[in-house]
Amino acid sequence: MEKFHGDKLHKPLILLLILVLFLSYQLPSSAYTLPDKYFINCGSNININVTNRTFVGDLNSDSVSFTKQNSSVTDNRKASETPSIYQTARIFRQQSSYEFEITTNGTYLVRLHFFNSTDLSAAVFNVSASGFLLLHNFRVQNSSSSILKKEFILSIPIGKFLIYFVPRGSSFAFVNAIEVFPAPPDFISDEAAQISQTGNSNAYKGILSRALQTIHRINVGGPTLTPENDTLLRTWLPDDSYLYHPDTARNSQVYSGRPNYLDPVNEFIAPDLVYKTAKELNENASRLTNNFNITWSYDVTRNARHFIRVHFCDIVSPAQNTLRFFLYINGNFSKEINPYETVAQLATPFFIDFVVDSDDSGFMNISIGPDSGSTEQTAFLNGVEIMEMMGESNVVPLSNKSNQKSVFVIVGSVLGGLVLVCIFGGLLFIGLRRRKPKPVQSSDWSPLTAYKGSTHSNRKMPQLSKLSTEGTNNASPVPNLNLGLKIPFIEIQLATNNFDKKLQIGKGGFGNVYRGTLRNGMKVAVKRSEPGSGQGLPEFQTEIMVLSKIRHRHLVSLIGYCDEGFEMILVYEFMEKGTLRDHLYNSKQPCLSWNQRLEICNGAARGLHYLHKGASGGIIHRDVKSTNILLDENLVAKVADFGLSRSGPPDQTHVSTVVKGTFGYLDPEYFRTQQLTEKSDVYSFGVVLLEVLCARPAINPTLPREQVNLAEWGMVCKKKGLLEQIVDPSIKVQINPNSLRKFAEVAEKCLQEDAADRPTMADVAWDLEYALQLQQTAVVREPHEDSTSNASGMLSFPVLQRFPSTSAEFERDDMLTVREDDSDSVPSASEVFSQLKINNAR
Ligand SMILES: *[C@@H]1O[C@H](CO)[C@@H](O)[C@H](O)[C@H]1NC(C)=O
Ligand SMILES: *[C@@H]1O[C@H](CO)[C@@H](O)[C@H](O)[C@H]1NC(C)=O
Ligand SMILES: *[C@@H]1O[C@H](CO)[C@@H](O)[C@H](O)[C@H]1NC(C)=O
Ligand SMILES: *[C@@H]1O[C@H](CO)[C@@H](O)[C@H](O)[C@H]1NC(C)=O
Ligand SMILES: *[C@@H]1O[C@H](CO)[C@@H](O)[C@H](O)[C@H]1NC(C)=O
Ligand SMILES: *[C@@H]1O[C@H](CO)[C@@H](O)[C@H](O)[C@H]1NC(C)=O
Ligand SMILES: *[C@@H]1O[C@H](CO)[C@@H](O)[C@H](O)[C@H]1NC(C)=O
Ligand SMILES: *[C@@H]1O[C@H](CO)[C@@H](O)[C@H](O)[C@H]1NC(C)=O
Ligand SMILES: *[C@@H]1O[C@H](CO)[C@@H](O)[C@H](O)[C@H]1NC(C)=O
Ligand SMILES: *[C@@H]1O[C@H](CO)[C@@H](O)[C@H](O)[C@H]1NC(C)=O
Ligand SMILES: *[C@@H]1O[C@H](CO)[C@@H](O)[C@H](O)[C@H]1NC(C)=O
Ligand SMILES: *[C@@H]1O[C@H](CO)[C@@H](O)[C@H](O)[C@H]1NC(C)=O
Repeated sequence: MEKFHGDKLHKPLILLLILVLFLSYQLPSSAYTLPDKYFINCGSNININVTNRTFVGDLNSDSVSFTKQNSSVTDNRKASETPSIYQTARIFRQQSSYEFEITTNGTYLVRLHFFNSTDLSAAVFNVSASGFLLLHNFRVQNSSSSILKKEFILSIPIGKFLIYFVPRGSSFAFVNAIEVFPAPPDFISDEAAQISQTGNSNAYKGILSRALQTIHRINVGGPTLTPENDTLLRTWLPDDSYLYHPDTARNSQVYSGRPNYLDPVNEFIAPDLVYKTAKELNENASRLTNNFNITWSYDVTRNARHFIRVHFCDIVSPAQNTLRFFLYINGNFSKEINPYETVAQLATPFFIDFVVDSDDSGFMNISIGPDSGSTEQTAFLNGVEIMEMMGESNVVPLSNKSNQKSVFVIVGSVLGGLVLVCIFGGLLFIGLRRRKPKPVQSSDWSPLTAYKGSTHSNRKMPQLSKLSTEGTNNASPVPNLNLGLKIPFIEIQLATNNFDKKLQIGKGGFGNVYRGTLRNGMKVAVKRSEPGSGQGLPEFQTEIMVLSKIRHRHLVSLIGYCDEGFEMILVYEFMEKGTLRDHLYNSKQPCLSWNQRLEICNGAARGLHYLHKGASGGIIHRDVKSTNILLDENLVAKVADFGLSRSGPPDQTHVSTVVKGTFGYLDPEYFRTQQLTEKSDVYSFGVVLLEVLCARPAINPTLPREQVNLAEWGMVCKKKGLLEQIVDPSIKVQINPNSLRKFAEVAEKCLQEDAADRPTMADVAWDLEYALQLQQTAVVREPHEDSTSNASGMLSFPVLQRFPSTSAEFERDDMLTVREDDSDSVPSASEVFSQLKINNAR
């Protein structure tokens, strides 16, 4: 609270702040609270409180029904040390079911409790639900403990949810207690990397259409956690008994603070106690061998598909960015874990999901090991969850009387699966897939169609007000876009001192940009739209959609958004050093060295390459320019402003659309044909390269006519061999001729008239890397110019605190932006030109 000295705060605001601090202990997940339905005490008319939940006797409950015929009750009350809910059970002598009324679609946790008592140990039965065989030939007597809890994660549609109990032969089925309650939003996403036996990985889709059974839930480096210790009443066990070589690992020091939860992770993903403990490499073992791994070997179902979630939280490193390490699954697959690629702070939890098929050994190995390229030579792990994916092959064809019902259930779920697939097929058109660890649900997407007709560049007031009058949290112009990223308006007021003018760092067509600090201490840039501004709802939605699904070192990260009432606010990571343009011309910033410029261009090229070809694939930025390349405190380049970006299906080479972008950077071919391809971004990037080389704007109307357009002028000079003459005078002496030649060559290739002649962003990044090497091998290397590190060791610049964006700082001619109604009719080039002229005249 010390950030708010109260000088300008009004009393009501302070009250509101206090209220918010009081009410929402944690910000992103405040919408979800552990539900109180359904917790059932089977075979009883007694309600029993267990860990804050009341298990209602099934005889008392109105909302739950079960097959009464041939069911009976057992009562073991004599075993007084037995917990109360296990003292009664319901017994079924023939196929029977419990029926639950489900009122919201979504992912549910389903837990079945069984107690191994002498009179029940003869039971052998199957359990199935939603068309999945959850347990088969199940007997409690095989278990190693007297209480058995079986947990499943299932997508359940609205309607009746039935759990079937099918005894084998003359045996019987029983159950002591049942829990069925919705998981938090985005608890499990539909997609994860699938690891093959040979270690290859590719995207696996459709997790949500399977049933998951929890096999292991491990609090690595920590104690047993009981339902009392967990946010979703889960049980977590210690990892020690799974260690292959116990000597290789030691428990990390327990973290004393609260983990720094950042979306999409919250304490429902795993409780604090999981993230506050970890196992790390035991240095003592390194005396025996100087390089080693920690391996855990988990028993799993043979030859079955498994969902694996590994939890990390860096409570080990002394400082940020000092630790990278490898995660191995089953020996053949390795992945470098860089805790700062996805989260920018210490002690910030994150998780990664995988889909892995087990072999017939019945074991699955998870290892962590050091990365020789990392400063700190260690590795850590905080938690592991392994779930078996119950496949469709397990669907039980139930026989006899309940047959029809069960067939209906199975068909229903198959159809449900198809609907999901169709929605997902539609998504592919949008082409946004997400990168771990950002959960996404197909429900994130479906609302988009509802807005198909509203892709107008002005805000849709009628629609907004219609939604707002509903007066609920759903009154949002971006329904369900990514609820996990939603930030309450009050939080943003708090972060920006109620949009304090003093914190304003930019102004543009979209509105104002403010510097802010979230309650967790994170510095952010807050972009708030003004009503009637140029940037509208579609851009707002696109930005959230694109940025919430991807994370990359060279793409600016979206922290969250707010769409309450008429507000359209985007919250980004704060980029300390502002835009690339501010470091090139028309500003008082110290001049960037040639090396730094090459590093920055290379970084931006990598970011764009990731957009084009990375995990999320097929995204075209459409507005690449020097004000959309931002620099963090270490001068690491990050591409920003995705409001205009567009995606196409991966197999399609172009997308026909209306010309958008910024004058001076526009691909002439795209202009002519309106065929948008990734090569349009390559062209714009070529203009940026020239800007970097010459330190002048893309368009400068004050210059002689032939020099106004930098791309044209640069190409003329290049062809005449006179490029040296237009190089920024302040770097002329340091620039190595070979490096310059290579760089000019890249720029020229990018600026080819014919898109087919332009290189891909990968080629561009590669060539820039080469230009950097040419520079560095030529120049006597100074320690701070090591290209293998990022620019962090470089000359320190006075901190420029700005967050300009596309639309911020519209004052110059070169910032003219073409924005149009994105209607279906494609305007002719002349229409586009007239639009340009209108904007020009503004
Ligand atoms: C169980 O909890 C409910 C509220 O959570 C409370 O009203 C009730 O008295 C409790 N019952 C017992 C037996 O403690
Ligand atoms: C089930 O109940 C019916 C009568 O309700 C009885 O005739 C039958 O024997 C019972 N079946 C079993 C397996 O107990
Ligand atoms: C339980 O044990 C019996 C024999 O003791 C065996 O046939 C059955 O497969 C076991 N079931 C499970 C689920 O392990
Ligand atoms: C489960 O019950 C059977 C039969 O009563 C018994 O043999 C077995 O030891 C029990 N298992 C546990 C873990 O109590
Ligand atoms: C239980 O499931 C197994 C595996 O699908 C099946 O073979 C068996 O017939 C089922 N038992 C009953 C009683 O339905
Ligand atoms: C790793 O892949 C090779 C083939 O590339 C295969 O022969 C081997 O069995 C795999 N190892 C494991 C543990 O799956
Ligand atoms: C149970 O309630 C207590 C007090 O209200 C709270 O501190 C604790 O976190 C709750 N536990 C769970 C598992 O919800
Ligand atoms: C888990 O909860 C129990 C009961 O509230 C408590 O005694 C125990 O200390 C907790 N465990 C941890 C690791 O905090
Ligand atoms: C590591 O070795 C030191 C000195 O031999 C010993 O004090 C310490 O307990 C060892 N740590 C572990 C985790 O084995
Ligand atoms: C697991 O690791 C151990 C030790 O490295 C190895 O012997 C075993 O074959 C591995 N199993 C699998 C399935 O990779
Ligand atoms: C660590 O494990 C991985 C995967 O099994 C293996 O490739 C690597 O060589 C191991 N490192 C050491 C030092 O054993
Ligand atoms: C729930 O899902 C079903 C299909 O699985 C769909 O038809 C229905 O509209 C959904 N309901 C809501 C409220 O989302």
